Amino acid sequence: MAEEVQNFKVTIDGITIEVAPGTTILNAARQIGGEIVPPAMCYYSKLEGTGGKCRTCLVKVSKGSEKDPRPMPKLVASCRTTVMDGMEVLNITSPDVVDARKAVVEMLLINHPLDCPVCDQAGECKLQDLSYEHGAEKTRYEFERRTFERIDIGDKIQLHMNRCILCYRCVYVANQLTNKREHGILFRGDHAEISTYIHEALDHDFIGNVIDVCPVGALTDKTFRFKNRVWFTKPVDAHRDCPKCSGKVTLWYKGPDVIRVTGRKDEYNEVDEFICDTCRFETKRTDEWILDEPTKISDQSVIASNHYHQFDPPSVIKDNPVLQEANVEQLARSEKLK
Ligand code: SF4
Ligand code: SF4
Ligand code: FES
Repeated sequence: MAEEVQNFKVTIDGITIEVAPGTTILNAARQIGGEIVPPAMCYYSKLEGTGGKCRTCLVKVSKGSEKDPRPMPKLVASCRTTVMDGMEVLNITSPDVVDARKAVVEMLLINHPLDCPVCDQAGECKLQDLSYEHGAEKTRYEFERRTFERIDIGDKIQLHMNRCILCYRCVYVANQLTNKREHGILFRGDHAEISTYIHEALDHDFIGNVIDVCPVGALTDKTFRFKNRVWFTKPVDAHRDCPKCSGKVTLWYKGPDVIRVTGRKDEYNEVDEFICDTCRFETKRTDEWILDEPTKISDQSVIASNHYHQFDPPSVIKDNPVLQEANVEQLARSEKLK
């Protein structure tokens, strides 16, 4: 008879939960949910080996375990530290963690441009949220910032290295979803940069997923660049019968036009299923999709705060119940925020 696995009890910010042995503190916190979940800029649950790069998920272990209750001497990366039975963890209830997170944000912003007003990631960017929550008004950094020219890597993806936080997610995508990785992190320390080897173009059926996993606006979709601000768009879940991927996507509408296609994302901004480049870049007509329902958007998201009060839906929306519903939901959300 198979031996029953004993779950571990872990308490995070005063909330206790039982999780399977081997669960990381971050994933235990995600099982609890809400504000106590540490931010994670480099960990990505759908990609193996991610985490341990950005330090945004630092937490304090105030009690190691029931057997050895000593606290851990330093803050630890919650995405890389597994729970022990009886462990007690502090996240937002620890001033040390809040201070450390501030310092991490300051570090991430050392070379980061203040591009938000023109950055395609604005409105969906965790770094933007973190800067808002923890960022200092002034930088203490006196040296010249690193700057790079934008480069096209492939005909659909642009790399804007100035915004990269070296989280490695895009490298894991190329490693795990494609059979020919052509980009990686070159050099070390403050010289490190994402680059393609000998300026090869990224070209593979699933490489477009680097755009979805990039937590900032370093890798952007050239077919969507500067088309619109995300909070003026209307996301709708749709699917199609695709021979390469699940075909389950989010279509981002501006009026009657699909201006962007992405994977469907969960509350941690991670895609549920990776999609192929044909679905992402080549199928942008409503009649190529079966519309499922308006995408669920958190009321906290800036995407919920768009302004369509005087919007008179064109016939493609009026004639389609799902698009009509999305329109009504969007109006309701913006009314609520008024
Ligand atoms: S990546 Fe995020 S923080 Fe950086 S410019 Fe773009 S929106 Fe702003
Ligand atoms: S380009 Fe984006 S995904 Fe790749 S390492 Fe930089 S921030 Fe991470
Ligand atoms: S999410 Fe844990 S170190 Fe980046």
